[in-house]
Amino acid sequence: MELKRFIKLLNLLLFVFSLCMNPTSGVGGAAQVRCIERERQALLKFKQGLITSDSETLSTWGTEEDKKECCEWRGVFCSDRIGRVNQLELGELQMRGSVSPALLDLRHLNILDLSDNDFGRSRIPKFIGSFKNLRQLTLRNSNFTGEVPYELGNLTNLHTLELDGNVGLTIKNLDWISRLSSLSYLDLSSVNLNETKWLHEITKLPSLKSLFLSNCQLPNTLPAVDFFANSSLPSLDVLVLSINGLTSNFTFQWLFNFTKSAISIDLSNNRLDGPIPDAFGELVFLQDLRLQENKFHGGIPKFTMNFIHLTSINISNNNLNQPLVELLQNLSEVTSLENLDLSYNQLNGALPDITRFSSLKELRLNNNQLKAFPPQTLGQPSSLVHLYLSNNQITGSLPNLSVFWNLLGLYLGSNSLEGTITNDHFANLTQLKDLDLSFNKLSLNLSSDWVPPFQMEIVHLSHCTMGPHFPKWIQTQISLLELDISFASISDTIPKWLWNMPRMITFNISHNQIGGRLPDLSSRTALRRSIDLSYNNFSGPIPSFVFHTVEVRLSKNMLSGSISHICRISGSSYIKILDLSDNYLSGELPECWMNINDLRVLNLGNNRFHGRIPFTLGALDQLQTLHLRNNSLTGDLPSTLKNCTKLRMIDLGENDLTGNIPTWIGTHLTSLTIVSLRFNKYHGNIPPTICHLTNIQILDLSRNNISGKIPPCLNNFTSLAQRNGSTESTEVMVPDDQIFPCAFNLHWYFDDILVQWKGQESRDGKIGLVKGIDLSSNNLVGTIPREFSDLRGLLFLNLSRNHLTGNIISDIGEMEMLEWLDLSNNQLSGNIPNSLASLNFLSVLDLSYNNLKGRIPLGTQLQSFEISAYEGNSKLCGLPLPKCPGDSPGPSQTNGSKDNIEKDDGFITREFYFCMTVGFITGFWVVVGTLFLKHSWRHSYFNFWNKIGDWIYVRTTLYAKRFKRKFLH
Ligand SMILES: *[C@@H]1O[C@H](CO)[C@@H](O)[C@H](O)[C@H]1NC(C)=O
Ligand SMILES: *[C@@H]1O[C@H](CO)[C@@H](O)[C@H](O)[C@H]1NC(C)=O
Ligand SMILES: *[C@@H]1O[C@H](CO)[C@@H](O)[C@H](O)[C@H]1NC(C)=O
Repeated sequence: MELKRFIKLLNLLLFVFSLCMNPTSGVGGAAQVRCIERERQALLKFKQGLITSDSETLSTWGTEEDKKECCEWRGVFCSDRIGRVNQLELGELQMRGSVSPALLDLRHLNILDLSDNDFGRSRIPKFIGSFKNLRQLTLRNSNFTGEVPYELGNLTNLHTLELDGNVGLTIKNLDWISRLSSLSYLDLSSVNLNETKWLHEITKLPSLKSLFLSNCQLPNTLPAVDFFANSSLPSLDVLVLSINGLTSNFTFQWLFNFTKSAISIDLSNNRLDGPIPDAFGELVFLQDLRLQENKFHGGIPKFTMNFIHLTSINISNNNLNQPLVELLQNLSEVTSLENLDLSYNQLNGALPDITRFSSLKELRLNNNQLKAFPPQTLGQPSSLVHLYLSNNQITGSLPNLSVFWNLLGLYLGSNSLEGTITNDHFANLTQLKDLDLSFNKLSLNLSSDWVPPFQMEIVHLSHCTMGPHFPKWIQTQISLLELDISFASISDTIPKWLWNMPRMITFNISHNQIGGRLPDLSSRTALRRSIDLSYNNFSGPIPSFVFHTVEVRLSKNMLSGSISHICRISGSSYIKILDLSDNYLSGELPECWMNINDLRVLNLGNNRFHGRIPFTLGALDQLQTLHLRNNSLTGDLPSTLKNCTKLRMIDLGENDLTGNIPTWIGTHLTSLTIVSLRFNKYHGNIPPTICHLTNIQILDLSRNNISGKIPPCLNNFTSLAQRNGSTESTEVMVPDDQIFPCAFNLHWYFDDILVQWKGQESRDGKIGLVKGIDLSSNNLVGTIPREFSDLRGLLFLNLSRNHLTGNIISDIGEMEMLEWLDLSNNQLSGNIPNSLASLNFLSVLDLSYNNLKGRIPLGTQLQSFEISAYEGNSKLCGLPLPKCPGDSPGPSQTNGSKDNIEKDDGFITREFYFCMTVGFITGFWVVVGTLFLKHSWRHSYFNFWNKIGDWIYVRTTLYAKRFKRKFLH
């Protein structure tokens, strides 16, 4: 023993001595290069095939003398002794290019990781199958596409295979994977496996522990053979099968055979229905269960006290419909639960005492049908950090919240809570950062000198009455990012300090009676996300600072003066929504719009602007909505507007615009869904090019001096020809993370347009449901083109007050969705076509003052209209008009004439134009952290994206990942 120790010591001394004598050799010395020349050359060739995003990325790789040691190059790792390259880890370097076959000279490669680079939609090279020693192959998010080469089946030492996140990868035959008998981690997410016998092949991988097959279009077919008999079935720890359209029938026949020891199961976003199988209650190693976005109903299985690791359950977005009290009973023994998400179900009944779940940190019960708030006596102090209860039907007053002393976010918006909230409610909530009490019937009675025990960031108190004075305690919240105190019954002047809140990026004080002038703070021009001061009593001019904001809403105030400065200042180019409607603004519109050319929504309607429409509006090539309605604008439309090809809605009604309707509207602005030029002085013909507007939903040219014939090509309006109400979405979104570089937020714009609609006023209409054409009160001549009958989705058609002749088109009954038809005050002749009687939805009809003759066709509908609908056609007869000559006398005739007298009044009121406001959403999103900071938004956000195409989804998850990486780790 002693001797051994001595020899060791001696060796050590000799070694140290040799280092002293010859400092350039030995461990760490630069002269003795371990790197094998042949492998170095291979790496250099590989580098030649790549373009790096900046010169730094692979700067350590080179031919220079001081870079000889390739074992020290970035991402290259060698075996200790011999210096063979055994790992190449080049993930996330943002390189582009191709994978050179020269790499094959790295014969001892164990790990090859090329993830998060861009290989330009090329195929995965077949030669990768020749790296016999490869244990890990990672090609995620690398822009590979096409068929995955079956040569990968030669990599029999592979433990880990990751091909996820490549768009367009497919595997038609998965046979080869069963040869990878050492495989324990397999991620083929986003690879199309639709044509494979995936389940059959997977069960042949006895070492498999983690399986990720998200978004693989997995078919719901069981293998033909009895694969459950196989004794070496994998026993999975992690199973992710989300986004696949899997059904319950299929899935639960085999799932529990592989998952007895599973710690994480994700079956979210499939078509699973029925009750959640009890067998989940036997997977006692579970930590994380995700079943969200399926169609499960009922409650949840019993989870016993043996579940000591279960920390997270997400079953949101299903049809769970148990009383919540019963459902939570099945979880009551689980003491480890930290996150429980049951939002977006139909859970009902009262909310039990949730403080029983002593480790619960995040509880989401929003968007259910819960009725009562927990009893006033809540149990022990709670560890809850986030509590989501918004969008339920919770009544009663807010209980004492003092047990929730860890609470960081409390979300109670959109319930039916009542009563008064005082300082005491918040006494213990020292951590509170996010508070949402909006859309209840609450009133806030906080003493004016109250200093809250917390510093909040997001405060949503819309519809909480707290007036008449502006709440002073807000001034103490210097960390505030978002403030919404709209509809709060505040009648006060706006305090100066509000403009100086250092971090505030969003504030909404709309729908109050807040007055005063907007201060000039042009020296302090912090960029904000959104300012909404609409529906208040602000007066005076519009200061320039507001234009350092992405979204500005100042409508329905008493603002006056010119807006000539709005596009002249620098820094205003961030603005995307500008709504100055319903004020007393005047003067000419400025000619500087090219300076704010990212504008998406411009609403200057209902003001006192005069002069011509500026040429530079044409520079707004991102513009989607343009309202100039109800001003005194003159002249014709500048032809530069044809550059605004993204326009979906253009409302120029109620001005004094003149000239012809430009032909380029149809040829250039083909995205238009709504066009209103009503109540102007347009003359000339309707240009046939207007028929190119295939997306049009509302075309209103009424009350002009338009003459000539109606072009017969109107059946090109494909959107109007579709019967179903839903149309191409009018929601628009603009990914933009440059302004607030964190994550995103959605900005919505609800657009109004005035159209005449059935003589009734409604403010709830939604575009997408309303489709129609109004050409009334012009000088149109000729016949009604028979092509109108192709417009089967049309809900209203108004051609009244023209000089139209000929017959009513005989197949008018084809327009089966028609609810309102006005052909009055023309010179139409002939009989009323029988098919008119088949319009089942028709509820308002006016054929009066034409030259129609003969019998009104029989049908329940046509007889139920009032006489005024037909009068002024002297040769028309039959119910509800007097009988036709030769009919036998009937009892109803006297009734009819009595009606007639009453209806004359009705006719007079029809002379008036009633209007309807149609909701129209131009939503778009810009930037900002809230989405990921503020969980309650996340949900609706992802729901929203579900409707959009796949490419967006990909993009979203990408950002989500990036964000998480940045901020959560
Ligand atoms: C993938 O490659 C194609 C072709 O080079 C390119 O157009 C596309 O932008 C790339 N996609 C990504 C996400 O890098
Ligand atoms: C894969 O292995 C087979 C047989 O072992 C061999 O014939 C084939 O050439 C190999 N392919 C590659 C790409 O190495
Ligand atoms: C798989 O392919 C079949 C037939 O090609 C198709 O009908 C089915 O919709 C596809 N399944 C999925 C989930 O895409």
